[in-house]
Amino acid sequence: MENSRELWSNKIGFILATAGSAVGLGNVWRFPYLVGMNGGAAFVIVYVVLALSVGISIMLAEFCLGRATRRNVVGAMRVLTKNPIWHIAAWCGMIAGGGWILSYYGIIAGWTLRYMFHSLTDLMPLALEGSSGAVLGGFLNQTSDVVMYQVAAMAITTIIVALGISSGIERACKVLMPVLFILLLILIVRAVTLPGAAEGVKFYLEPDFSKLTGESVLAALGQGFYSLSVGMGILVTYASYIRKEENLVHSGLFVLCVDTLVALLAGLVIFPAVFAMGVEPSAGVGLTFITLPGVFAQMPGGAYFSCAFFTLLLFAAITSMISLLEVAVSFIMDELHMSRSISSIISGVLITLLGIPSAMSLADDSKVPQIFGMSFFDFMDSAANYIMMPICAMGISIFVGWIWYSEAKKEITNDGTLKFQMMGLWMLSIRFFAPAMIGLIMVTGWPF
Ligand code: PHE
Repeated sequence: MENSRELWSNKIGFILATAGSAVGLGNVWRFPYLVGMNGGAAFVIVYVVLALSVGISIMLAEFCLGRATRRNVVGAMRVLTKNPIWHIAAWCGMIAGGGWILSYYGIIAGWTLRYMFHSLTDLMPLALEGSSGAVLGGFLNQTSDVVMYQVAAMAITTIIVALGISSGIERACKVLMPVLFILLLILIVRAVTLPGAAEGVKFYLEPDFSKLTGESVLAALGQGFYSLSVGMGILVTYASYIRKEENLVHSGLFVLCVDTLVALLAGLVIFPAVFAMGVEPSAGVGLTFITLPGVFAQMPGGAYFSCAFFTLLLFAAITSMISLLEVAVSFIMDELHMSRSISSIISGVLITLLGIPSAMSLADDSKVPQIFGMSFFDFMDSAANYIMMPICAMGISIFVGWIWYSEAKKEITNDGTLKFQMMGLWMLSIRFFAPAMIGLIMVTGWPF
């Protein structure tokens, strides 16, 4: 094992970076909408139960693999087993986390950068006229602009990762995460004090168990995996830089709390504002880049709140992008023995290039062929979420639960020095419950 590996300077660094990976666009544009549509607080309860049972148990399995082997996900499996099945699972995570997802995630981060600037110039007047849909459409048709902003977001990420674990990633997350939280609080105060905001809060959180269906449970599960960034090699890689004396269980629980809190709070910006301005709540791209600019445009000081909102999104995206790029960089450093700066530049450039077909596929007159009836962009997203990520998460879960369990038990208790009361439940979850749930997501969500 390499002892010279750079480590997080302390527990806070690891936790903030991992929370930074978890808190991303999914927390802001998907979670609140799922809550609003699936019975408010009732959905939140289901989400938390699933995240605490399935989500966190896979997260802990990944932490153990990373810290015990001090390697990236592929390297970790390679030192632990010769059986190619586990290598394939690891490669699925490596491909998803080490470039595939980042190639299009970087494009959306670029949009937030553009909207951050444009909030202060022409976005508000246009949104007030009701043309924010046309603004987004016009932007997406201009592929060179989309790529320019993508390159800018990727360049910021590459520089941070090239600076290293403690002076790059850890330092960036220590600034970006608290600022993100403060921006979120400012936006909540603005949103809930708008006249008519109470209706939105009620719609968002009032528990309604009749709206909870089997589909809501699956949606909660899928959201939990995506939001905690499991099954992509990220958590293995980040844990490979953590010190032997840290408590993995506490760190995992803390990350889960931060991730869930930010997602819940994001809803307290979105629903009160959307209801106060009398527009329909929606999810995803439409909500973020079309509905919300229209909402901000109607508020006093809207340009500044819009700018703050897109800054928040940009920060959330950048801390997730850092974790994705680190998967590729740690792989190149471990396996090809290149320096951190060279590995960062190589992966940053290649991943940006890989994103260009996705960027081009967004234009109306795009020449990029559709794949399985989906745009290239949507194909990349679906393949990651429904094939690669579940295969990797399932592989890790079964491997740790059935094959590597005695080592895993040692790792999670720091060689028996810590008490882990939930050991039995954890094993039960990674052996049976988590693989079954992942299988269910694959079968029911299969888009091809
Ligand atoms: N967890 C992030 C979110 O909630 C998304 C993400 C996915 C980040 C994959 C990194 C890797 O948006």
